[in-house]
Amino acid sequence: MTDDYRDDGVEFPSGFLFGTATASYQVEGAVAEDGRTPSIWDTFSRTPGRVLGGDTGDVADDHYHRWESDLDLMAELGVDAYRFSIAWPRVQPGGSGRVNDAGIAFYSRLVDGLLARGIQPWATLYHWDLPQELEDVGGWTNRDTASRFAEYSARTVEALGDRVAGWITLNEPWCAAFLGYAAGIHAPGHRAPAASLAAAHHLNLAHGLAVPEIRRAATNDPAVAITLNLHVVRPEGDGGEEAVRRVDAVGNRIFLDPVLHGRYPQDLLGDQSALTDFSFVRPGDLELIHQPIDQLGINYYATNRVRLQPGAPGQPMFPSTQGIDWLPEAGPLTDMGWNIDPSGLEELLVRSHEEFGLPLVVTENGAAFPDRVEGGAIHDADRIDYLHRHLAACRRAMDRGVDLRGYFVWSFLDNFEWAFGYSKRFGIVRVDYATQQRIPKDSARWYAEVAREHVLPPRR
Ligand code: FCB
Repeated sequence: MTDDYRDDGVEFPSGFLFGTATASYQVEGAVAEDGRTPSIWDTFSRTPGRVLGGDTGDVADDHYHRWESDLDLMAELGVDAYRFSIAWPRVQPGGSGRVNDAGIAFYSRLVDGLLARGIQPWATLYHWDLPQELEDVGGWTNRDTASRFAEYSARTVEALGDRVAGWITLNEPWCAAFLGYAAGIHAPGHRAPAASLAAAHHLNLAHGLAVPEIRRAATNDPAVAITLNLHVVRPEGDGGEEAVRRVDAVGNRIFLDPVLHGRYPQDLLGDQSALTDFSFVRPGDLELIHQPIDQLGINYYATNRVRLQPGAPGQPMFPSTQGIDWLPEAGPLTDMGWNIDPSGLEELLVRSHEEFGLPLVVTENGAAFPDRVEGGAIHDADRIDYLHRHLAACRRAMDRGVDLRGYFVWSFLDNFEWAFGYSKRFGIVRVDYATQQRIPKDSARWYAEVAREHVLPPRR
């Protein structure tokens, strides 16, 4: 073991899943095909000034048309599992009513294609592409959206629930609620902190209403999970612990506690009292949200460091954090400006295991770097180093008793990185957006070896 997590001889048990992940709006393109209607991300990305360079997901990686060759490439890499997401407006245009057979057929072919190649399908039901019609009546600030989500989930699992190995209800509800409705930097782009707290509750409710529908409709005993981007928050200076407590409440426990303990944390209700009295939480909601799940999905990229600082504005994406100051983390940083700290992942896995005791899966981890193509190759040693160290962190957590079932690299392909458009490359496979050519980076070859051998190759 080394302090920097560049551990050698790291082995994983044979059943451990090595997967890759993407999301519908980030890779599919074909936004107006086969009956798909616009999502909030279509609207947002077409609004001038919202996405860097005016980029949209109109074409993205054209995965909607290239899925077969993409799956061939995935099979060549020999990964065990693929986490993709289902575009709600493809399956149920407009977000209510009839199911679109052509939309379901696309995902059905994808699932069959994965199984034919020996790759486990893991499907996320909501990775942020809310049908625009639902946003027009309030989106996640409208309680009814939770019921609409449960209905869409039911129809989707009725169609695919004989074959999908893992169902993830929501991806990162923190981003959906707070980047979308408080900070305004993700779709739908609102700056309404009080309403964002209602959105968070309705996302929790959506999860809770969907879980029994998934269990009812699935016939193959899938793993049912939710994916949270839990924040690792560290204190600095006098009162740092109080700053951590407040960020942890609105960054993590606002989802963890209702989903896994059936309650909202008292301190969160107090912290947010200037914004809302939480009267959107109706009697019985917490019982509905608190459904048994099989695994907790964790997305992890970087850490946060905070201190109390009178007069500090706080961060809009964390409501009611006035008086808290975020400190810059030490470099080196990735191309997102995020710090690289595998100890944060180990800490998160151990904390989650100790508090909840359920199996965990890392549903996203990876890094954007400004890759260069040299002689037709991408020698992304920085990404390999990142992945190696974070997988070593997973192994260390497992050695400390964490029941970790798998790890999904974000991402299989370079793709549409939300407000950053195509400027950030997270893929282990490069996409040339002009030609749609795929080039496996060195990290893809490295990851293929990891997936095959279940051992991290010795560092050279
Ligand atoms: C996560 C998202 C994913 C991707 C990575 C970099 O927050 O779930 O879609 O954009 O960040």
